[in-house]
Amino acid sequence: MRKLNRFAEICSRFSGRRVLVYGDVILDRYIFGRVERISPEAPVPVVSVELEESRLGGAGNVAANIDRLGANGVLLGVAGEDAFAAEIARLKTEGNRVVRDAHSRTIVKTRLVSQRQQIVRIDRDGRIRLEADVMERLRAVIAAERVDGIIVSDYAKGTVNAEVMALLKARADTAGIPIVVDPKPSHFRLYRGVTGLTPNLKEAAEMAGRPIGGEDDLAPALHRIRRRFGTRFTLITRGSGGISAAETGRRIFHLPAFSREVFDVTGAGDTVVAVLTLALAVGSELREAVALANAAASIVVERVGTSQVTPEELLERMASILKRH
Ligand SMILES: Nc1ncnc2c1ncn2[C@@H]1O[C@H](COP(=O)(O)OP(=O)(O)OP(=O)(O)O)[C@@H](O)[C@H]1O
Ligand SMILES: [Mg+2]
Repeated sequence: MRKLNRFAEICSRFSGRRVLVYGDVILDRYIFGRVERISPEAPVPVVSVELEESRLGGAGNVAANIDRLGANGVLLGVAGEDAFAAEIARLKTEGNRVVRDAHSRTIVKTRLVSQRQQIVRIDRDGRIRLEADVMERLRAVIAAERVDGIIVSDYAKGTVNAEVMALLKARADTAGIPIVVDPKPSHFRLYRGVTGLTPNLKEAAEMAGRPIGGEDDLAPALHRIRRRFGTRFTLITRGSGGISAAETGRRIFHLPAFSREVFDVTGAGDTVVAVLTLALAVGSELREAVALANAAASIVVERVGTSQVTPEELLERMASILKRH
């Protein structure tokens, strides 16, 4: 009970907090339809469209997670001057600082779904151009926004580069706020000196420079990543294995995953970095922040598609987890 009160207290501080989410903003589009015949033009099915939907993906989903927790996700990235960017603006009305640039293209992932089966995914890569004028606009937003924490959601689609990372790190340092990166291993050079990293197992193995075969490999990998990148902490999200974490001067800890039924794990990593950073931004200990992040992830994997959780849902899940242990 005492523990649950502590988590309730942390969640009660979310309201009014601002978290800057920088990174690859993706528009996730879904086209649902029925296959009824084969095309006369080519040996392919004809899909008759019943429903079209779009959602915020990538950094957009991280910001949506922050919003849903009752705080304000300030979304910053680059999109084109196209209809997809307009759709992003429609989905994120408040705290949308996405820079629209005529020389870039909005990153879009379109899934065609029929009878609950994904038939094809169409990726429109972003061709994100961080030229001088775009950099200037990004710099202005980073300098002007008063935030309690920074998240970098890097999908290696071109939005995250050395120059912006330097700006974000400097901003976090002067403001004394956490900067947490959900990393892509190919960009590892950019992450030195951030507060924390949240790779999944595969990314962690690449970043540690050695395979993670079993539980015994976790501690050495966590220590190696922390030392290599000079971070205060590192987590490894391990899918159905839960989360393992290491923090300077503390013992490593492991939290098991806690899900009733798993439907769709997409976006679970976005939820982890969002809840974790917001909890740290309001002053919780790493262990508390990871426990909340793990609980939130256990909810979103039970739902189809990317989703977000409210503080109420999070506390309810926290209560069942505490009861179980
Ligand atoms: N199959 C699962 N069963 C239970 N919990 C899960 C499962 N998959 C993911 N989770 C929860 O979600 C967290 C993050 O998932 P994961 O390690 O797959 O991150 P990820 O690969 O970065 O995800 P993504 O990039 O798709 O958002 C896990 O640490 C765990 O808490
Ligand atoms: Mg991930």
